[in-house]
Amino acid sequence: MPTDLEVELQTEVNRRRNFAIISHPDAGKTTLTEKLLLYGGAIHEAGAVKARRSQRHATSDWMAMEQQRGISITSTVLQFLYRNCYINLLDTPGHQDFSEDTYRTLAAADNAVMLEDAAKGLEPQTRKLFEVCRMRSIPIFTFINKLDRPTREPLELLDEIEQELGLSTYPVNWPVGTGDRFKGVFDRRTRKIHLFERTAHGTKTAKGEILDLGDPQIEKILDQDLYFHFKDELELIEELGEDLDLDQVHAGKMTPVFFGSAMTNFGVQLFLDSFLDYALKPIPRRSTVGEVPPTEPNFSGFVFKLQANMDPKHRDRVAFVRVCSGKFEKDMVVQHARSGKNVRLSRPQKLFAQGRESLDEAYPGDVIGLNNPGAFAIGDTIYIGPKLEYEGIPCFSPELFAYLKNPNPSKFKQFRKGVTELREEGAIQIMYSADESKRDPILAAVGQLQFEVVQYRLENEYGVETRLEMLPFTVARWVAGGWEALEKAGRLFNTATVKDSWGRPVLLFKNEWNMHQVQADLPDLKLNATAPVV
Ligand code: G4P
Repeated sequence: MPTDLEVELQTEVNRRRNFAIISHPDAGKTTLTEKLLLYGGAIHEAGAVKARRSQRHATSDWMAMEQQRGISITSTVLQFLYRNCYINLLDTPGHQDFSEDTYRTLAAADNAVMLEDAAKGLEPQTRKLFEVCRMRSIPIFTFINKLDRPTREPLELLDEIEQELGLSTYPVNWPVGTGDRFKGVFDRRTRKIHLFERTAHGTKTAKGEILDLGDPQIEKILDQDLYFHFKDELELIEELGEDLDLDQVHAGKMTPVFFGSAMTNFGVQLFLDSFLDYALKPIPRRSTVGEVPPTEPNFSGFVFKLQANMDPKHRDRVAFVRVCSGKFEKDMVVQHARSGKNVRLSRPQKLFAQGRESLDEAYPGDVIGLNNPGAFAIGDTIYIGPKLEYEGIPCFSPELFAYLKNPNPSKFKQFRKGVTELREEGAIQIMYSADESKRDPILAAVGQLQFEVVQYRLENEYGVETRLEMLPFTVARWVAGGWEALEKAGRLFNTATVKDSWGRPVLLFKNEWNMHQVQADLPDLKLNATAPVV
């Protein structure tokens, strides 16, 4: 007989889904997020997310920078209740200037929504984030946005995903016309056409008309050539396309595809309904004691993100923890795997969740924000019961490199302290030249903004003004086998050797082409784009 707690856990796991959105700037991530909240009933009028963002940031000094630039550096977690299920959106920043946090958030997500602009298709940042998803084989749901504007051919967009990402596609709905002639989508689940109504910016949920495929009205509403074109395409995808295979979706090999227009609210509800049915529920997670099922009664979770200085007066750091098993309760005492110490989880952070003020309990698939300064590092496991540790979150290949200089020797101590603390917090990776005569730390980031944040915080929190000297590299690879393997490889051209914070050798290249050349010359030298945190 299962215990009451086991029954409760099973029920709560069944009604939870979480995801992160992967996209390139401008594809419409902020807009889609807002519309999902609108349909999820978490907000009643679109526009609230932006307003809320500025409200929250008004309390924090260094985030003023974020406001000035009108972008989001830090990611939040949004939860809403839809059809009696809790949907957690692990909100990642969508700006070009993204940081390692964007990657780390994907380590906590069970599903990803790949958002594309229908006029552009796959774009560079989306491809990079997709690679991170592929490492964990998480299910990818594709939302092709901005159908109300001129687009590329829908079939061509599917083909691009198949050819370039190696995913098979299953269009769950299919557009009738695009751009000026966008009339709606055909939902293959219900075999009905949802007609699109042009509304300006859609602040409220849309009420479109829905017709059966065979309804004689359709031919009156749609131009004949448009209707025939749509029917031809539909026939093509239904005859030649693959059937929906949820096992393939869950293995990250097939992506369900949706067409819509987030700005005008079109297709958002159809997407949500299918997402709820097709997405993975919280799944077992790999740990040092094997896979831990979410219904395991003992609580466990891991830290995937630290957010510093939400309130600069208190120098606080919020640790975002993905709950993996058991039930979280406020004030519970857990074991901290890295230090072996007991930690009381006494100040759970309130998250954006339908006006909920404090967080008293949470279940697998949820994210909690813990306010324990200094206690946590990225990748830390907390648990109750027999000791376990979840797989760490790796370091990801940085793409921007710069020497960080401290022009004022009297500030050396503060400089060193600041650099160490920001590194521990995961704000940026720190490397050093293999040439011992060069002592300045090398900042290694995945986005430009990380540099600015580090410099800003060093000045404001540690009182050190710094200078950056950019380095001409864009690719980093860790050498498998360490220094020994590197020595064996002999002399390398067109690369610089540095060491990471753990003294491991990393090769820096000017571009991918140079890296491929080195790999072609030295097939025995194994290079990795990520490395474990130790
Ligand atoms: P991001 O977070 O991915 O960077 O994108 P964001 O939602 O900010 O959207 C980028 C731009 O694309 C915005 O226009 C937004 O209104 C527009 N957009 C989003 N979804 C759609 C859509 O379905 N159709 C059309 N036509 N446009 C869409 P903007 O001019 O930058 O801002 P705004 O003045 O509209 O707020």
